[in-house]
Amino acid sequence: MVKIGVFDSGIGGKSVANKLEVLFPEAQIIFANDPEHVPYGSRTPSEVTALTKAAIQPLIAANCDAIVIACNTATTNSIGDLRTAYPNTHFVGIEPMVKPAAALTKSGTIAVLATPSTLASPRYAQLKAEYTTDITVIEPDCSTWASLIERNGMNQQEIRKVVEQIQHAGADIAVLGCTHYHWIKEDIQSILGPNVTILEPSDAIGARLDSLLSTDSEPLQ
Ligand code: DGL
Repeated sequence: MVKIGVFDSGIGGKSVANKLEVLFPEAQIIFANDPEHVPYGSRTPSEVTALTKAAIQPLIAANCDAIVIACNTATTNSIGDLRTAYPNTHFVGIEPMVKPAAALTKSGTIAVLATPSTLASPRYAQLKAEYTTDITVIEPDCSTWASLIERNGMNQQEIRKVVEQIQHAGADIAVLGCTHYHWIKEDIQSILGPNVTILEPSDAIGARLDSLLSTDSEPLQ
């Protein structure tokens, strides 16, 4: 049976794991997180890397066919180090969907909602340099969101503060650049209204896994 490991600092990755369970019903999905150290989003890159390496040990030990780093913060800061440390493991990362957002926007303004550590990462800077030279990118402050969502304390007022910035800037695409925010996608959409498209990567991850596992090793089902 194919084994797919899924890691996140906290409950964000669980939304991705749930989706993968639907997409790959025959696979074994093994979820690992780091309840002791979540959130990662304001930590330094070296802390994120060290914590991620420690927390994925159950997935390494389980000899997963692929490990999804279902955490934008860990992907953008640490995926290179993980690939170097475990060269025989297939890592699939999740990073903010800047490229599709840039391709889809009609207003020329996109919003990226992500943790401070993701927004500060060289990988994110590279994505912006590559795809957003002729569009405006706003990055509303979501620094409290992951911990609020982690302890089920998110509220409409917090969402409204960010939605107002998105609307004020005239963004027509909002990128969910943190998997914790997947849990409140519908709340954000209902406050934003229908004119702003929200992008999140669960389907893209499914497609990536499908091609990786079916061409590279044994078929999934
Ligand atoms: N869910 C994670 C992400 O996608 C990080 C949240 C956190 O630990 O701050 O970035």
